[in-house]
Amino acid sequence: MKFSCQGERPCARVLAKAMCGIIGYVGRHRAKDILMDGLKRLEYRGYDSAGIALLEGSELRIVRAVGQLEALIRKAAPLELAGTVGIGHTRWATHGGVVEENAHPHRSSDGKIALVHNGVIENFATIREFLLSRGYCFASETDSEVLANLIAYHYGRGGGSGEKNHFGESVRRALLHVQGTYGIAVLCEDRPGELVGARNSSPLILGIGDGEHFLASDAAGFAARTRDVVFLRDGELVWASGEEFLLTNLCQERVEAQRQELDWDLTAGERGGYPHFMVKEILEQPQALENAMRGRFSADGSTAHFGGLAMTPQELRQVERIVLCACGTAHCACLVGEYLIEGLARIPVEVEYASEFRYRNAPMDRHTLVLVVSQSGETLDTLEAMREARRKGFRVLAITNGVGSSIAREADGGIYQHAGPEIGVASTKAFTSQLCLLALFALYLGRLRDLSFDEGVSIVEVLRAVPGQVREILLQGEAIRRIAERHGRCRDMLFLGRQVLFPIALEGALKLKEVSYVHAEGYAAAEMKHGPIALVTPECPSFFLACDGATLPKTISNMHEIHARGGPIIAVLSQGSAVPREIVDDPIWIPRAHGVALPILAAIPIQLFAYHMGVLRGGDVDKPRNLAKSVTVE
Ligand code: F6R
Repeated sequence: MKFSCQGERPCARVLAKAMCGIIGYVGRHRAKDILMDGLKRLEYRGYDSAGIALLEGSELRIVRAVGQLEALIRKAAPLELAGTVGIGHTRWATHGGVVEENAHPHRSSDGKIALVHNGVIENFATIREFLLSRGYCFASETDSEVLANLIAYHYGRGGGSGEKNHFGESVRRALLHVQGTYGIAVLCEDRPGELVGARNSSPLILGIGDGEHFLASDAAGFAARTRDVVFLRDGELVWASGEEFLLTNLCQERVEAQRQELDWDLTAGERGGYPHFMVKEILEQPQALENAMRGRFSADGSTAHFGGLAMTPQELRQVERIVLCACGTAHCACLVGEYLIEGLARIPVEVEYASEFRYRNAPMDRHTLVLVVSQSGETLDTLEAMREARRKGFRVLAITNGVGSSIAREADGGIYQHAGPEIGVASTKAFTSQLCLLALFALYLGRLRDLSFDEGVSIVEVLRAVPGQVREILLQGEAIRRIAERHGRCRDMLFLGRQVLFPIALEGALKLKEVSYVHAEGYAAAEMKHGPIALVTPECPSFFLACDGATLPKTISNMHEIHARGGPIIAVLSQGSAVPREIVDDPIWIPRAHGVALPILAAIPIQLFAYHMGVLRGGDVDKPRNLAKSVTVE
């Protein structure tokens, strides 16, 4: 799908935050199996607790369990649940602790309505007060239960009338009073063949099957059963039975559904024979990099080109400043992008955390281009930063792996990563694919300016060689595992690199923290002596990214400084490096490379190291504690 521009919908309400995975089904098959299968594919979105609700004739049955999905599967296994309509949820807690009462689905206190919700209802306290005064009561601390009751309230006011879409209308009326974000799927005990969903800033996708419909916060939830989808937009509501669906907005106007065919390789989202998604995705990087580059080099081999930028070369030449905006690992990718774009295209670049940028009111002149980077395309801070920039009239491009995601749909143009689904919560292949695309983008901008034909050709050659070089580095997995074994008991680590490898040091520290829970800090190597060196002891290893480049002699001095204080050194070195071997306890060799390729190559050892540290220390590397893959809350 091409990136497309989408204007504000007249009826769309104020949009802010939401997280979790939701799924809904209405059709002829056993909903329990379909929901459980969907939840397995959505579990990366949250794994504090999970639950399902099914309509068994006109009886609404709910099963919920704290912990990963396995707990719910075990609990539901002995239950006879034959219903063909249902909803399911896998939770990442926002309001209320991780206890069964707070797990979804939530049921209204009159028992009529069951709801799963991804998002945050900001005015839930006011609505709760109102409902308490009307005799409703609450079993949980969640904002979502308030919404279930509000829908029940509106349903009750209609007296359960026989009007065809009375259920959908009750949901619509309730949502008119809601401030906040939601992707919801709702069941009503009186309407056994119906399912209602709605979206505001939290993704929701309708799947259209043969005599059946699905709802999910990510099409992965049902893609095994249908590829025919409609991406709901903010302020839209869908009512579905097995045979038909109706799409409207909150103003009760009918909306023309834009059906799309998903083009997905489903096996890409399976773990296959690998012990974890994380290692599978690390090993998939050569292919992901090839996909990122495929069809994106010019015929003369001197530059890159992109199908979906929606900006002419003339317009791009007018750009005098670029703001790169993202969160987490994608932010580290942007920091590399800054070096590359400034180096190759000589355009000043600033890198912003999306969460800061959107509230900062940074002065930007009219020749500024904003480029957001997001694997999921759903990270709320990034989405809102992008909306803020567009509101101010800036052109916003996006690099994302999320085909059809909110960011892809709202950006003025952009570049798809085509890295395939990334299920492991810690980003790996999406990161290097972002680095690769930022390098291509920098090359393209450079060639529109002063970068010569010959320089362009040599950079293209460098980039084309990267997937093969990554394959070579991946062969060292076992050696890196042994290094992790030697340092597996440490409590703190430093990651140090300079210039284009400084952001890789930041990413190394982030990756290690996430999957192994070892405290780690990333620094520009020379900064180490301005404070962090105080941490250095024989128990605190330093992981240097000390590849060849103009600053290598300075980095070697920093290594000496740490070695002299008894700090163990792990170092990523270029083959044939001049770094004295006696100061490196654990070397990891990567091919010599140009600065555009180096960050990608150097990222591979830090990912493998973090992965093995995580496994050795017994954590769940695919689902580290407290994290979720797609952060759709502020
Ligand atoms: C870390 C990680 C996160 C994400 C961040 C942004 O391994 O995955 O830091 O990079 O949450 O996510 P996206 O790229 O989906 O916007």
